[in-house]
Order: sequence, then C-alpha cells, then structure tokens
Amino acid sequence: MTADDSPIRTAYQVLADEATARKEAFDQSPLPKIHIGMATCGIASGALETQAAFETALAERGVEAHVHTVGCVGHCYAEPVVVIDHPDSGFPPILYPEVTPGKAKMLVKLFLEEGDPRFEHIMGATVENEMIPSVTEFARFNREKRVIMDRCGRIDPEQIHEYLADGGYHALVEALCQPPEALIDTIEAAGLRGRGGAGFPTGRKWRFARAATGTDKLIVCNADEGDPGAYMDRTLLESNPHQVIEGMLVAAIAVGATGGLFYVRAEYPLAVRILTQAIEQARECGVLGKNILGSGMDFDIDLFQGSGAFVCGEETALIHSVEGYRGMPRHRPPFPVERGLDGRPTVINNVKTLATVPPIVEKGADWFRGIGTADSPGTAVFSVVGNVTHPGLVEIPMGVTLRELIFDICGGIPNKKKFKAVQIGGPSGGCLSADFLDTPVDFDALTRAGAMMGSGGMVVMDEDACMVDVSRFFLDFTQKESCGKCTFCRIGTRHLLDILRRITRGEGREGDIEQLESLSRAVKAGSLCGLGKTAPNPVLTSLAYFRDEYEAHIKEGRCPGRACRPLTAFYIDLEKCARGCDACVGCCPVDAVFTTSNRKKGIDQSLCVKCGECMVACPPDYDAVVKISPAHLAPVIERPPEKKD
Ligand SMILES: Cc1cc2nc3c(=O)[nH]c(=O)nc-3n(C[C@H](O)[C@H](O)[C@H](O)COP(=O)(O)O)c2cc1C
Ligand code: SF4
Ligand code: SF4
Repeated sequence: MTADDSPIRTAYQVLADEATARKEAFDQSPLPKIHIGMATCGIASGALETQAAFETALAERGVEAHVHTVGCVGHCYAEPVVVIDHPDSGFPPILYPEVTPGKAKMLVKLFLEEGDPRFEHIMGATVENEMIPSVTEFARFNREKRVIMDRCGRIDPEQIHEYLADGGYHALVEALCQPPEALIDTIEAAGLRGRGGAGFPTGRKWRFARAATGTDKLIVCNADEGDPGAYMDRTLLESNPHQVIEGMLVAAIAVGATGGLFYVRAEYPLAVRILTQAIEQARECGVLGKNILGSGMDFDIDLFQGSGAFVCGEETALIHSVEGYRGMPRHRPPFPVERGLDGRPTVINNVKTLATVPPIVEKGADWFRGIGTADSPGTAVFSVVGNVTHPGLVEIPMGVTLRELIFDICGGIPNKKKFKAVQIGGPSGGCLSADFLDTPVDFDALTRAGAMMGSGGMVVMDEDACMVDVSRFFLDFTQKESCGKCTFCRIGTRHLLDILRRITRGEGREGDIEQLESLSRAVKAGSLCGLGKTAPNPVLTSLAYFRDEYEAHIKEGRCPGRACRPLTAFYIDLEKCARGCDACVGCCPVDAVFTTSNRKKGIDQSLCVKCGECMVACPPDYDAVVKISPAHLAPVIERPPEKKD
C-alpha cells in the first residue's frame, strides 16, 4: 500500500512485542495454570460452576494458581473441558473431560496440592511425553487439520494480546504492504471457496467488488447461522474473534472498502458480547479504526444483531433486514458486490471464509492448495451432532470421507446401533445412506451425491431414525421459515409437509410418493432463493435412498425405524418378564400397565400414550418391553376386571 512500509511494520512490532512480553510473563510463571473452556457449549455443561469451584477451592486451601478462560476446543462431548498445567508436579499439561465442581475441588486438593493427577479422570496429556498417553494419539485429535480452529481453546478470546502474541494481525501487516490486486491474486490462486454454503470463489467475488464503480464499499460478515444443529460460526466468534476481524480487514484492503459490518444471530448473546469487546480492543490497539497501524487506511466495523429468521442469512434478505425492511430475498442481478447495503458495493462472506483468509495471506496460496482436494482446497469445519459417540466441532482437510469423519474421528454410532443416515448441509441438505459413507467431503462430491456442504451442519442418525419423519422435521422447519414471497415455496412446501404428516400418521395413500416427487421438483424450479430451491432436498434424497421406508409406511402401516407413534405399539414379552419387579407398572404416567391374576404384565393399548418410559424402566437383565410396528402386531392381553370392594 505504501512505498515505504517500515512504519507499518514498526507499529505492528511494538504491539506484538508488548503482547509477547505479557504472554511470556504468564507462560513462565511458576504457578499452575487451569485453562477452562468457556464457550457456549462449555457454559451449557456447567463451566461457570466449575470455574467458581476451582476459585473457591484455591482460596479455601490457600493454593495459588492462574485460572485462565479459553474458547471451545471442539470436544463438546467432553465439556466442561479443563487443561491443568502444573510444571512443579513433573507431569505435562493434562486434559480432563467433564470436570464437574466436585472434580474441580478434588483436583485442587489431590493434584495441585499433593501432586497426584488422578489418572482415572484424565483424557490425555496435551503434548507428547513419557508419562501419560497424549491426546495427539487419538484420531479425534490427529486426523484433524486445524487452520481456522487452531487457536480455539488455546487462547483467551477476550484478550487481544493473546492473539497478537500468537502471530495475530501479522497478515494485516502483509496485506497493508502489498498492492490490493496481489492480495486478490493470492486468494484466487489459493482456490478459497465461500464457506457459507454455495462455495463461490472468494477471490472472484472480491475482484468483482474491487471493479465495482460505487464508492463507500462495505464488507459484511455473515454470522446468521440459522441451520438447526449448526454452531461452527458461533464457536469461532466466541473462541477466536480476532481472526475473523483480521480476515475482514484483509478483505477491506483487497476491495477498497471503508466499512465493515458483522451480521450476528441475535440468539448468540455470548458471541455478540465477545465480538463487541474484540472490536473495541482492536480499535484501542490501532489495528482497526482511523489510520490503521499508521498506514493511512481508515476502516471500522459495526455489529448488527440478526432479525431472527433463517432466510435472513440469504445475502439479499440480510441486506433488506439491515436496511430496516422485512427480511425477504430479491432477484439478482444486481449482485450485492455491485449494489448492496444502501446501494453500496457489498462483499458478503461467511465467518469461516474470513477466518481462512489470514492464514492464506501468511502462508501463501501453495500452502493452502496443499490441503484438501484440487477443486475444494483447504479445510471444512463441521458440527457433527446426533447419534455419534463424540459429537462436537471438527476441522478436517477436504476430501476426508464421511466414514472416516463419522467412525474414525467422531467415534461411530453409540449403543451398538447401526448407522442409518447422515444429513449434511442443514435443513436444505440431503440425507445420505450407508452407501455414501465413502464419499469424500468436498463441495462437488457432496452435491453429486444429492446433499451439499452447506455451512457445516451434520446430523448423524442411527437405525432407529425414521427417514420419513426426518424429512417431515426438516420440511417443517423450512416451511415455517419461508418468507412467503414465492407461491411455490410458500404453498408448495405446505403441501409437501401435509403429505409427509399424513404418511407419518399412517394415513399415506397410493400416489403420495409420486406427488411428493413432482411437487418437490416444482418447488425447486419455482422458488426465487436458495431456501425454496433446496427445501425439498431432504424429501428427494430420502425418497432416492430410503424409498422402502415410505412404501412401508403407506402400504403396510409400518415404520421401520419404529419412530412414528401412530404406527408403533409397546408390549411386554412374558417370556422375558420377571413378573415380580413391577418397574414398568410404577413408571407409566397413564396407568396403562397392569398386572393379571398370575402376575403377568400387560399394556392397555387404548390408554398407552407410547412414551417409552416402561421400556427405559425395565431392567436390562430382563429387557422385556418390546416396541413394534405396525401397531396391530402387539399381542393383546386382557386387563382383568376391577376388583369390587
Ligand atoms: C436460506 C439461506 C440461508 C443462508 N444462511 C447463511 C448463513 O447463516 N450464513 C452464511 O454465511 N451464509 C448463509 N447463506 C448463504 C449466503 O446467501 C451467502 O451465499 C454467503 O453468506 C456468502 O458467503 P461466502 O461466499 O463466504 O460463502 C444462506 C443462504 C440461504 C439461501
Ligand atoms: S424461495 Fe421461499 S424464502 Fe426464498 S424468496 Fe421465495 S418464498 Fe421467500
Ligand atoms: S409406553 Fe408409556 S404409556 Fe405406554 S405403557 Fe409404557 S409407560 Fe405406559
């Protein structure tokens, strides 16, 4: 940007040196350090109570230690996650899962005071060593490739100096010290594709914006993240906000923007708080605001809390909602890069896209192309949830197969159940069957399979899932979220939903499948925006890969997953029943379980509300309660007449 860039580098070096000195003073302190994951997933699992318990126990026992809060490391199944670094004990830093307040107190006494790390509670050491197996030996840790999550769970997101001391904002310096076109060339050469869903090449988008004739260009970070089950963007903003801000600054330099805006889902209060604080700290340090690092560049960022609708994540609806109108998509062109918010040329990029930019600027396009596949370079961050042993956030190189991701990295399906399907790409994605487990995770392979990358939501389902009901669930969501502008989306999804509801109630009819297919095609073709164009995907993919389940519902009144209540019934297998235990009798909320004169158990089907409590209550040794579909197959046992006094 400037002929002589040394003042920029000097200004940065002053900041980085101060930050490094502070960080080194902390790292070299002889006191033990207790690092607690404090993102939403940690807090929801009790991390605040765990922190309070550590602090109380330290005070009560007179033990000195630093309590250091960090973001989410991605292992949400193990929250609250705590790493204790106690150099005097001779042990390496140790990661403890599920640290309750009681465990916290115990660790202060036994580990910090007496030097016993309590091996039975350890997940692993965080570094290779001779004493304790390291977590790096677990697939969950060593099969991941962390580009944008590298600092998550390692630094305190509320302290900018920790980001600076870790090399943060150095990409900003590099960006300020080169021509904007060269930056765009790098991002284009890296092959970065937008992580918000469509996979549009980021460099190309920036080039259009740079060439746009309007003034006062704008960078918007799309953090609306409305997909059920997805929380990658939230976690990044809560755990590593400065990397996203830095990515926005680089984008601003590349396209010549003067302003930035975070559009953050209002239901993410912690992300909003941490981001607001991060923006203020960046301003105070001079990496944001006027005359950034003495370069003469002015760029500041505002934050707008989302309007609470899934469709507001669509870029033109997002713009409308910020402008104060109802969040409704509009026709493109003009594209936002030509005429966006308030008519200004506007680049809209996802959180993960922007977070990927600083490492590319730092390490180069070739480094990035060395990760992932030829057409989808880099990594993908997924929130893997549902019936999987180790749910959480995973960052993998593109090209890893679904099988590796679900079974090797996330531990497979719990409770000895079989894998049935995986829903990828949020409510508008597709449900893929076991036949697709060897599909590589990249933009194009998932689209070819009928699903899509989306922004990274992944729901894994076991054999008990009903694929008709899963389609109904996702369609129920998109139908409610339709903005109503297009007839096909507004009314077509309603018809689709009505048919699916009927089928799950056991009222399916001959011809329903064909109607679902033709209506789905019509909704896709007749809708303006991505919501309507993709809403039928769960229906179409489940019809393609699980058609037999639809047929079983319609023709036999049978739900193969035994999930649709009207098509199932519970009964008690008298060969297995212990007869005397009565656990099922006591737990039934509607007194449907009865005992006959010879102490047999029966279920009154006219009273049973199919809650499944009796199945849970029946001791595993007997395992006598059976769920069956179709419902009429349940053996009938007559309830004995009531005794008269
Ligand atoms: C219904 C709908 C919802 C969307 N929600 C989001 C969202 O929450 N976050 C996001 O980044 N992109 C979302 N998108 C995609 C955006 O329109 C846009 O393509 C994206 O923000 C561009 O960023 P990228 O190029 O970095 O991927 C959504 C699209 C549709 C159709
Ligand atoms: S497709 Fe649906 S959500 Fe999109 S503009 Fe049309 S009605 Fe609105
Ligand atoms: S499924 Fe629920 S309502 Fe039915 S018998 Fe068992 S406990 Fe009672």
